[in-house]
Formats: sequence, C-alpha cells, structure tokens
Amino acid sequence: MKRLKDLNIKNKTVLVRCDFNVPRKGDVITDDNRIVQALPTIKYLLSGGAKVILFSHLGKIKHKLSEEEVEAAKKKNNMLPVFLRLQELLGSDKVTFSDKTRGDKVRKLVDLIQPGEVLLLQNTRYEKGEEKNDPELAKEWASYADAYVMDAFGSAHRAHASTYGVPEILKAEGKEVALGYLVEKEVENLSRCVNVEKADRPYVAILGGFKVSDKIKVIDSLLKKCDKILIGGAMAYTFKKALGEPIGISPVEDDQLEYAKKCFEDAKGRIVLPVDSVVTDAFEGWTKKEVVKDIPEGMEGMDIGPKTIKLFTKELKGAKMVFWNGPMGVFEQKDFQAGTIGVCKAITELEGCFSVIGGGDSAAAAAEFGYKDKFSHVSTGGGASLEMIENDGHLPGIDVIG
Ligand code: 3PG
Repeated sequence: MKRLKDLNIKNKTVLVRCDFNVPRKGDVITDDNRIVQALPTIKYLLSGGAKVILFSHLGKIKHKLSEEEVEAAKKKNNMLPVFLRLQELLGSDKVTFSDKTRGDKVRKLVDLIQPGEVLLLQNTRYEKGEEKNDPELAKEWASYADAYVMDAFGSAHRAHASTYGVPEILKAEGKEVALGYLVEKEVENLSRCVNVEKADRPYVAILGGFKVSDKIKVIDSLLKKCDKILIGGAMAYTFKKALGEPIGISPVEDDQLEYAKKCFEDAKGRIVLPVDSVVTDAFEGWTKKEVVKDIPEGMEGMDIGPKTIKLFTKELKGAKMVFWNGPMGVFEQKDFQAGTIGVCKAITELEGCFSVIGGGDSAAAAAEFGYKDKFSHVSTGGGASLEMIENDGHLPGIDVIG
C-alpha cells in the first residue's frame, strides 16, 4: 500500500479525502480534533509543492426527504465553518473554498490553485450520489486530480464515491493513490488490537454505550481475540435481563435477549457485567437517585456503581492491552460521570499497557475528563474502529488503496 512519502507531488493536484465531520453547535465547531489531526498530511503536501484539494462529508443529509428538508439539512451542514478553521490553522491566504461540490465553478477553482495552496470543496453529502458511490460523480471528482490521498479514517468503513469510487477510478487510470499520515497512524495502532501478540496479553476490552445490536459483531470478534470483556453502559441491562436479573425501567433491547444469553454463556466467565448501578426514577427530570445492587421496579440505570468501578479496576489489573469503546453511563450529566471517569483512571494507571480508545463518545469523555493524552492511541473514528476489529483489520476505504 502506498504511503504519502511514496507520492510524486510537486506541482501535482492532489485530492485528499479528510474526515471533517466535526461536532458543532450552530456554526461553532465544538471539537476541531479531526481537523487538527489532518494537518500533518496537508502540511506535508503543501510544503512539497502540491496543489491540494480537500473534500469531506459533514453531518447527515437524507436526500429522500422533501426539498425543503434537504435544503435545511444542507444549510445546517455547510462546510463553511471548517473552511474558516482551516484558514486559521493554515493561513487565510493559503485556503480557498468552493461552495459547490462539482461542475464548472469547481473546475475553474481547481485550475486556479497554485502549488502550496488548498481548495476546500463543499460537503460531499450535498451530492445525492455520494453515499451510493455513483460512478458519474466519482468520475467527475477523479477528473480534478493527478493523485488521491485517503486520510479520512473515520469514514473508511463507508464505500462511498469520495472514499471508494474516486481512488478506484484513479488507480484504473494509472494515477497514484496513497494513505495519509492520519490513516497510517490509525491502521498501525488499531492493527495491534486486531492481530494480538503474546506480549500484549492479558488483553481486556471494555464496551459500553447504548445498543447491543450495534455491537454484536464486535463482541463476537473481541471474544475471539480478548481475554476478557467488561460491559457497562446501557447495553449491560440487556445482558442482565437475559440472565434473569431485575433491571427496572432501564432501556433494553428485547430482540437481543437470546443473543446476549448465548453470548454470555459461550464466553464462559470472560464477560464481566456490573454488580451495582446508579439509578434514578426517570431519565429526565428525576427526583430520586440511589446506588443499588438489583435495580428495583420503576427505577432506571444511569451509570455503573462504585462496586463495579472497583471490580472493573481489579479485572483490568495487569492488562497489557486495553481496547475501550462506549461510556459507562450518562456521562454528559455530572451525576452519572463517575463510572466513565473511573474506567479512564483505571486504564491510564496501568503500567506498560497499550491502551486504545475506539473513537466516538468515549474519546469525547476522555477529553472532557482530562485523560485523553494518557491513552496510547485515541482513534478519530468510532464506527470505523469497531468495523476494523469486526472485519479483522479490513475497511473498504483502506483496502481500495492497496
Ligand atoms: C463518524 O463521525 O463516525 C464519521 O465521520 C462517519 O460518519 P457517518 O456515520 O455519518 O458516515
């Protein structure tokens, strides 16, 4: 697989797929990590005299909805705030923006890019054909470039026009395609969690978050690779109900009960569930909060309890590799942060342990609670890192480069 440094970039137009799908409040970017993480690749290309085109999706746009709804989604997911942030990070004279995704206007702007300059295109999902990997769309985007760099790890599990169709066409045309620095770093770190060496054992995974159904494949896959899986967050209640334990009004996926029971039994003690919970009488506007072993009628689990934090800390002792995805509770609210903070603390205090956060909410939580820099690797892709583990290291947006 080609790397950035293998490319011939001087005076070449290089199309770079980034993942600039950043969280925002209105037009304000609340976490620019994905933009900052893309800078090494962009700066390498600029200093090597390339003409750089950046493109990415931002948010979701459902083209099946009414015209007004699509227009509203486009307005909400305009790439303009990303452009302004890139100008701040790279210099306002270096970056221009195309408010269109394709067509004559874009072609003219592409022709105007000088070596050492960047053109950012509008959100790829403005195009109906992006998620369908429409060949005409991919052909047009491919026609702008002499070479392609895949640096959108967070989108590498999507076989869309910008992540799959374009490099496929360019490769067929004999043009160069390569992985960017961000993707290279992700692959290197996450591969270690996929192809486990003896020195990385005991290997413990911690899973949390809401749905068992979203994580079935990853649980199955991790059970083959890990020594233990600790399960917290709302998904633990489905496991508990499957084992006949009381869970009150906690959220449960009833259609996953059979799977959860079989999975727990087959794991033969390698799946560890919470032994206590912080519960309230309602999810919103609660008036009663307590710590319980068994969740009583009318109460809902909001976080793992203090005994579970101790248990998980004990189970983690001596681990040489940890993969963590999904918070332990409703960490957005102060009253239910202790479980997620406890897990952050327990993992980062392990000596000589290779610790990886699989993106998403757990990465946001680790950053919020000040633990992010203490992990060995924090992935920029939630869905992508889980799929990479599920699919034994394979993702379409990365495989297509090879
Ligand atoms: C993410 O945030 O997980 C990636 O940017 C992928 O976004 P998507 O789930 O909308 O494809």
